[in-house]
Amino acid sequence: MIIKKHFGIAPESAQQMIDATKNMMHEKSGDNGFQNTKAFLFDEYAVLNMQNINVRNVATQDPDLEHLERLAKTLLDLQAKGVNVMPILAVQSENGSGYIIQPRARGAELYDRDNVNNKDYVLERVEFLSNVPQKHFDKYIADIIEIIDAGVIVDFVGKDNFFYHESIGFQFIDLNAHCDYEYGISDEKPQGKQAAPYGYFLPCYFDTVPKYRDTVSKILPELTGAERASLEKHNRIIFERCKTAVINNGIAEKEMIEAWTPNIKIA
Ligand SMILES: Nc1ncnc2c1ncn2[C@@H]1O[C@H](COP(=O)(O)OP(=O)(O)OP(=O)(O)O)[C@@H](O)[C@H]1O
Ligand SMILES: [Mg+2]
Repeated sequence: MIIKKHFGIAPESAQQMIDATKNMMHEKSGDNGFQNTKAFLFDEYAVLNMQNINVRNVATQDPDLEHLERLAKTLLDLQAKGVNVMPILAVQSENGSGYIIQPRARGAELYDRDNVNNKDYVLERVEFLSNVPQKHFDKYIADIIEIIDAGVIVDFVGKDNFFYHESIGFQFIDLNAHCDYEYGISDEKPQGKQAAPYGYFLPCYFDTVPKYRDTVSKILPELTGAERASLEKHNRIIFERCKTAVINNGIAEKEMIEAWTPNIKIA
């Protein structure tokens, strides 16, 4: 079954770009084998070729792409409110595989996965991000709260799901699904502010203790003492900026401290 839907781009322009990708090499790829995303970048747009477009959040079947259509509307509404999401402008699918077209995010991934084993790159990026003004961190947290309150999942594990541009600030890509609550498979509706003290910091810094998909462990043994000190210093600045941003968005410091205090009582 072929499905074509357009939400914010003329069908002819969408088709032209999709056709053009057939003679192009993709510039980026995702690292989940389920969707196997290949990203083709144009000046203004990104065309994503992917598998399993007709599945939301791994578990929810979306054969007619009605959930995806609703997601596209949610993202356009968020964008209209000034939230820096990259909306879905068009989708074309044949038996579940196909293309999604988005505006191209500006600037660069917080950390480009193709470079995270290059210590010079990582050191340069943490230093760069430690100089991002507080107002951009404030907007980053404010936008995440809006996105989550709109029922959309943010994948904080991928540091390349977030872009930064010096005049625009942080932007959000890879918003592929609503949360389970929106599909009726969970009773819990995530609240943007409640989760703020937990995962929202994760994409921004490059921890010296590897977590999730961080590959920092590969470069740690290569760092000189001074480089390690520089990494830690810049991480700390980024962490403080994120923390201030969470507080600036109306979350009490007390809640932050509670969130970070291990919930283990020694008998
Ligand atoms: N709108 C966009 N603008 C610019 N680059 C993009 C855009 N969408 C995707 N990319 C590039 O392609 C990469 C992979 O895209 P995306 O994150 O959507 O794929 P994915 O398969 O969901 O990846 P994963 O599940 O591993 O996070 C991004 O990290 C980014 O480098
Ligand atoms: Mg991604």
